[in-house]
Amino acid sequence: MKVGDFQTEETDVIALGIYEVDNGLAPLVESVDKVLGGIISNLMQLGDFKGKLKQVATLYTNGRIYSPRVSLIGYGKVEKLSQENIRQVSAKHMQSLRDLGVKRVTIPISDDISGFHIEAIVEGAKLGLYTFDQHKTEGLGEKEELEELTFLLVDESRMSVIEQSIRLATTIVDGTALARDLVNQPANYLTPAILAEKAQLVAKEKKLKCEIFDLARLQEEKFGAMLGVSQGSLEEPRFVILEYGFEEADKKDTLVLVGKGITFDSGGLSLKSSSGMETMKDDMAGAAAVLGVMQAIGEFKPDLHVVGLIAASENMPSGTAQRPGDVVTSYGGKTIEILNTDAEGRLVLADALGYAKNFEPKAVIDLATLTGAVVTSLGRYAAGAMGTNQELMDQLILAAEKTHERVWQLPLWDDYEEALESEVADIKNTGDGTAGAIAGGIFLKKFTEDYPWVHIDIGGTAFDIKGSSYISKGGSGYGVRLLIQFVRNWCC
Ligand code: BES
Ligand code: MN
Ligand code: ZN
Repeated sequence: MKVGDFQTEETDVIALGIYEVDNGLAPLVESVDKVLGGIISNLMQLGDFKGKLKQVATLYTNGRIYSPRVSLIGYGKVEKLSQENIRQVSAKHMQSLRDLGVKRVTIPISDDISGFHIEAIVEGAKLGLYTFDQHKTEGLGEKEELEELTFLLVDESRMSVIEQSIRLATTIVDGTALARDLVNQPANYLTPAILAEKAQLVAKEKKLKCEIFDLARLQEEKFGAMLGVSQGSLEEPRFVILEYGFEEADKKDTLVLVGKGITFDSGGLSLKSSSGMETMKDDMAGAAAVLGVMQAIGEFKPDLHVVGLIAASENMPSGTAQRPGDVVTSYGGKTIEILNTDAEGRLVLADALGYAKNFEPKAVIDLATLTGAVVTSLGRYAAGAMGTNQELMDQLILAAEKTHERVWQLPLWDDYEEALESEVADIKNTGDGTAGAIAGGIFLKKFTEDYPWVHIDIGGTAFDIKGSSYISKGGSGYGVRLLIQFVRNWCC
């Protein structure tokens, strides 16, 4: 962030966004064009660059200004401009500059640019440049990396507003990148105990309260459903309780966020197929998002009491694994008949959602890679949302539209309950094979009777999303931007 003049900036490139319009250039672009002897307008007159969405053109300034290059990016038609378009465009532009070998980018911004616009540029740029190469040992030296992004302001009075937008966007991106890192980390590097340690680190850094239940404590507290899931694994389970705003918790509204943290889902004795198992290191994406949100909240400091609960376990087959037909008793005392050990997410969540009641929450939101069925229903472009409070749901839908982390509401009508009735326990963990995502929601609903609640099934949106320039392969970090936006609307 700087106040100055693009003519005297030392940088590798001046980056300019251009709309697809017929009536000339925007004033800022026009002034750059002028010093460069009209090379931008010439290019556009020739039709070589029209400002079409994500179109890139790089021009060389030949010593006319300090920057050796000016790079143009098309914003498309002005009437179609949205925050999502800006994110996409910004990611595409920064990726193309990185691939060119550019290190320092300067973006001059006009006086009328909004804070939202800046947020979207920063989010798109940083999320678009995200990579996960911790486990690569080859080819690292050849990889280009963009090092510095500077915004250049003309009007100094806008400085603090713009700075705040940059800071906020950076916080949100950092939370999302943390969630992506955790999801991308293989299960042999990220066990439940290691996930809990990461949470502890985040808590220390952001001054959150952090309590961790180990195996013995979980037995003491009677987390029977979670213990059933973990008993087949050599890795111990962990339950993590993170708290922000705990000093005056009794004076503030409490929001509880719950994340499914299955660090690897083999299916247990109801074993998955090899291909079905390939991406199951991502089965802790809900937990990763919750941790990403808690990190951001520690920075963003809303006037709320926010609790993050993470139910972390492996789901493995072995001689000690739970069997189909077993009955377990959940934290709140309700009994569950296990028919399919691969429906384990709802089991660890049953305990976590039961535990959430202790905080007397105003709202509880859980994020979970709960079903394959939600991928069948909605594909990779929306999560399935179900809940018991329409007001809360509407708030989430609003936040989803703004962040483009989309949700689509599915019903939790009583009609669906019959399929989960058990002969021997209070409920069974699978339905009749129809409406799989809803059956998951109906199951969870039984454990959330004491507070307004929404469940977000991120089975389709947590991993390998296609067609977005700012979401790479692997973990998407879905849910972090959504929930932070939700908190921003909800509290202030
Ligand atoms: N983690 C899976 C859900 C999943 C599968 C998410 C594929 C993303 C991609 C979950 O634990 C699971 O296995 N669910 C079962 C439930 C069924 C046994 C009722 C499923 O969806 O098949
Ligand atoms: Mn499973
Ligand atoms: Zn699972």
